[in-house]
Amino acid sequence: MQASVPATTNDIRSHNMKFVTLISSIAAIGGLLFGFDTAVISGAIGFMQERFALNEFQVGWAVSSLIVGCIGGAASAGVLGDKFGRKKVIFAAGVLFVLGSLGSAIAGTFSVFVLSRILGGIGIGITSTLCPMYNAEVAPAKHRGRLVALNQLAVVTGIFIVYFVNSYIAGLGDAAWNVENGWRWMFGVGVLPGVAFLALLFFVPESPRWLIKQGRPAEALPILVKIHGEDAAKQEVLDIKASFAQEAGPLRDLFRPGLRLALLVGVGLAVLQQVTGINAVMYYAPEIFKATGAGTNASLVQTIMVGFVNFVFTILSIWLIDKVGRKALLLAGTSVMALSLVGIGAAFHTGYTSGTVVLLLVLVYVAAFAVSLGPVVWVMLSEIFPNRYRGRATAIAAMALWIADYIVSQSFPPMLSFAGPALTFWVFAFMSVVALLFSWKLVPETKGKSLEDVESLWSRKA
Ligand code: BGC
Repeated sequence: MQASVPATTNDIRSHNMKFVTLISSIAAIGGLLFGFDTAVISGAIGFMQERFALNEFQVGWAVSSLIVGCIGGAASAGVLGDKFGRKKVIFAAGVLFVLGSLGSAIAGTFSVFVLSRILGGIGIGITSTLCPMYNAEVAPAKHRGRLVALNQLAVVTGIFIVYFVNSYIAGLGDAAWNVENGWRWMFGVGVLPGVAFLALLFFVPESPRWLIKQGRPAEALPILVKIHGEDAAKQEVLDIKASFAQEAGPLRDLFRPGLRLALLVGVGLAVLQQVTGINAVMYYAPEIFKATGAGTNASLVQTIMVGFVNFVFTILSIWLIDKVGRKALLLAGTSVMALSLVGIGAAFHTGYTSGTVVLLLVLVYVAAFAVSLGPVVWVMLSEIFPNRYRGRATAIAAMALWIADYIVSQSFPPMLSFAGPALTFWVFAFMSVVALLFSWKLVPETKGKSLEDVESLWSRKA
């Protein structure tokens, strides 16, 4: 792609922003696949349980096997991305995603299904780490926060779309057809966004930061010119080179006073984002609604409402995050999450689950998550670590997030049968109170601070 020569500074700015927005949006499709692939199981699991006669643990494994792949993908993404380049590895992850979708759709046995999910999961783990990193690396500094949040918007868009697709497919046939074939189409449809992603990646350049790190500044320069304009680009090359001169700290530095507090906050937020139960709802929503007496179709329609509320409140959060700040959103969101979870538990405890009570409480819970822990955690993971350690520290926190996700998604069905829904949701409520106290006592406000200010904040706190 050759840039045309813009006439004025304003032209240059809008031309460059268009280019950056275009390539960041393409990279963010990785987030869309993340949302799609993690949530597609919600519509399929009931039918699969019948098809393969699964017990509670196997139901948990059907859902969480993908997440095992994600843990592996997130763990290897940093090393692979450094060695082969962001673009090639993201492309390979897209291929894994397509193969995983196909394999899950045509699986003749439960084992082949699980293997396909793990394969696709590796792709998702890689994109969950490298796509936001790519966006951060191509973004002009002052737009970085918004471009990272774009990724979360893509995740919730993927979830929303897949809820629609699932409900549409389930409506195409009767129960017997769904048990035999419907769920296969739900996974198979993933091939379409996967292939579109692979095709669009051809229009995306390699990350200029990575090229410079590889000693290929001549290839990085034309890309930086497109992003920043002619003059700023040369300065940018010098700045990036200078920043690499500092990037040599050993991993154990992360456990020094100050930095270890940053790591504690990052890993703590990542784990709390998951153990407060969001994916029990995202992956099992139709099953939860069926437990309140809703039929298959009604439960899928209610799940679409969950996706819609998640989407709308994520947009609200992106609008609010730089105005009211991260901490205010965390405090308000986790409080409302705790209250609504106590309510859901109480509804199941008293047997007062019919009608719309549980649905309304679930929607309030999802809205509260979507304005707080959802986007805020991913944004903070990209900004609380010092420049020199950001890649590695973010990878550690992302792995912790996927491990916590695995534990929740694997244990939710057995917990429902052995401890019952009331106690299960009260455990999530308790975790939300922990998240509230953690945010209040330990999480600093990073709104409006430069990354260097954030860095010095840790040394003052240590
Ligand atoms: C979380 C995902 C979750 C999604 C729901 C993301 O921030 O990391 O695990 O499924 O939000 O919107």
